[in-house]
Amino acid sequence: DMIDEYLANVRESVNQQFINIIKSDSQVSKAMLHTVLAPSKCIRAGIVRAAAELEDTLNKESINNLQVAVEAMHSYSLIHDDLPAMDDDDMRRGQTSNHIAYGEATAILAGDALHSLAYEIVSNDTHLSDEHKINIVKLLSDACGFNGMILGQQLDLESEGSDTGDINKIHALKTGRLISASVALPITNATLRMRLKSIGEDIGLAFQIMDDVLEITASSATLGKDSGSDIKNKKLTYVSVYGLESAIKNAEKLIEKSKNNIIDLDDSFNKKSLLEICDFIISRDN
Ligand code: IPE
Ligand code: IPE
Ligand code: MG
Ligand code: MG
Repeated sequence: DMIDEYLANVRESVNQQFINIIKSDSQVSKAMLHTVLAPSKCIRAGIVRAAAELEDTLNKESINNLQVAVEAMHSYSLIHDDLPAMDDDDMRRGQTSNHIAYGEATAILAGDALHSLAYEIVSNDTHLSDEHKINIVKLLSDACGFNGMILGQQLDLESEGSDTGDINKIHALKTGRLISASVALPITNATLRMRLKSIGEDIGLAFQIMDDVLEITASSATLGKDSGSDIKNKKLTYVSVYGLESAIKNAEKLIEKSKNNIIDLDDSFNKKSLLEICDFIISRDN
């Protein structure tokens, strides 16, 4: 349907840009391409594009740069997340994980390189205003740093085998923050940007709740990753804490709330794509 086509389009332009940028044939660049070009949903890039449609002020190239930046950041986090010292997963995006294909050392470096690349792409953009660029760097570093995604990953690891962690906090940090940043990044108006950042937190939490749900309800083949990973690692998940039905209900409530908040934004905005992405997050099968 429409959203699949939309995301396929986004993915095509993101992949093309990755191919253009990462062209040296070193082992580390091959490892980077292994993960960024593998079949993925490109939901964060899709969110960037959909959010950019609200104000409709950014140039196409800049929108694509922001799409590529969030996907580079996300791919880095997945490469490291799969490492033996973390979730120890051998499969990602329907193929071998980065460290299985390239070895642990190169996988670590490929992740590091993609993290830097996210900022490099933003700074090299030739259309965004300097002020907007600084706000983008702030949003990304704040979302992904030691008070954001990294803290979420740390708490996620500490939650293994325990039932006392704060699952809402873990999910908001490890996944919610980058998704929230993706909604806010393309917005030039500061007030609107902050409003979308807050709406994005609900969307991001709903996304990670459904990630936990899908690990229970979908097969490894459908997911393109090991559907037994959370159980293997005795993770605290939304499903282990609240049960499958409440988890799904919670995700649906968060999406309903997000959609209402989006609908309440200025009437002149084009909200269609962002609303569709909200629906996709709770209806997806992988
Ligand atoms: C998986 O993210 C890891 C999470 C943060 C939940 P996605 O489900 O977006 O993975 P890809 O990018 O489509 O492979
Ligand atoms: C991944 O969370 C979060 C980040 C990479 C920041 P999970 O470990 O729950 O995601 P999957 O199931 O491996 O994709
Ligand atoms: Mg993990
Ligand atoms: Mg994992």
